[in-house]
Amino acid sequence: MPSRSDITHFGAGPASLPTDVLEEAAKALLDYNATGLGIAEHSHRSPLAADIINQAKADLATCLDIPDDYEILFMQGGGTVYDSGQFSAAVYNFVGAWVARKHKEVFGDTQGDPADHPELIQQLKQAVDNDLRIDYLVTGSWSQKASAEGERLLGSKHINIAADARKTNGGKFGTIPDESNWKLSKDAAFVYFCDNETVDGVEFPGFPKSLEPGPDGNGPVVVADMSSNILTRKIPVRKFSAIFFGAQKNLGLTGVTVVVIRKSFLPPIISQPSVALMRHLALPIPPVIFQYETIAKNNSLYNTLSIFDVYVAGRVLKKLLQTYNPNKVEAQQAVTDKKAQLIYDAIEAFPEVYKIIPNAAVRSRVNICFRVTKGGEVDAAEKAFLQESTAQGLTGLKGHRSLGGMHSQNVS
Ligand SMILES: Cc1ncc(COP(=O)(O)O)c(C=O)c1O
Repeated sequence: MPSRSDITHFGAGPASLPTDVLEEAAKALLDYNATGLGIAEHSHRSPLAADIINQAKADLATCLDIPDDYEILFMQGGGTVYDSGQFSAAVYNFVGAWVARKHKEVFGDTQGDPADHPELIQQLKQAVDNDLRIDYLVTGSWSQKASAEGERLLGSKHINIAADARKTNGGKFGTIPDESNWKLSKDAAFVYFCDNETVDGVEFPGFPKSLEPGPDGNGPVVVADMSSNILTRKIPVRKFSAIFFGAQKNLGLTGVTVVVIRKSFLPPIISQPSVALMRHLALPIPPVIFQYETIAKNNSLYNTLSIFDVYVAGRVLKKLLQTYNPNKVEAQQAVTDKKAQLIYDAIEAFPEVYKIIPNAAVRSRVNICFRVTKGGEVDAAEKAFLQESTAQGLTGLKGHRSLGGMHSQNVS
């Protein structure tokens, strides 16, 4: 029977957590801070819960240099939809923001029930029909799923696949198309990309040049899924309108998703359009629980949030800050880069045995996807590799069911 210390776990998510954090969390489950009550038994509305949320927000902001004009939200989903929840939430909220902006352009200061202004409504409807687009950069299975969700909610005419990596790579993921080939819309509600494609082992090397804001600071509305590479490198937060990530890979336990959103997309600057207006425009009405403004207004406590999940994320962040003070995420980045280099070097030293799947220029530093090809019998070689690696305490190396091969999350 192996013990924790015998195992090096490479599973992408849920991923392994620091043992001392789990030990502390186990104690807190029974009795939090000598209150005689476990942390998961305290009210989510208690001052103690508010402290845990506020501290985790502050520490995340410190780790990632999140500016004050960004809000941090802890949100929930369920089962396999934590981020899939965000695939939908991004659509609802940023389409809502786009409609709010167009409404202002068309209605000006005209107030009252939209039904009282049929001509203006008609004009707005035309703007929606002609111009409402979401741009997706499809570089792997997670951005593909996000684009499918956008299409399900809005219909294909509003979805622009600005780039699809499979089109230039023989039908398979593994590259990022050259930016000169991206077909971005003029005024997209948002441009979406997945910074690190967990399943396909593809990571954006940096912020895309064509999405850079102009000298006036204005640029496209950019939303990114950073579920699998958050806290592994410094992020130019100001270039994003929103970033989201499930906690279960690099931050904590399954059960909570973090959204970092620019406050200019929240009241009082932008409010989501009324239900009546969205019905007139035949656009989807967001479930209240997915409305960023509702979650922000309630400091993430619109409904019962798992404070235990936020607590564990908070302990991981504290540990990161204590370990790497004062360099914060830059120091974690150096560790991540080094680990990735070691693994890629080891794999590349044996080209007759291993084959790395993605293109070298866009290889992920956190999910290393490779095949074991020794002797040409890939299935048998991979089975043997997994058996041998498990026997040596290296677990969670099996690739995603959709891709096969090996796959490792090397951040902890
Ligand atoms: C990059 C990325 N986005 C989204 C998801 C979806 O997460 P969930 O299964 O919690 O919906 C994953 C899960 O592995 C992921 O790696």
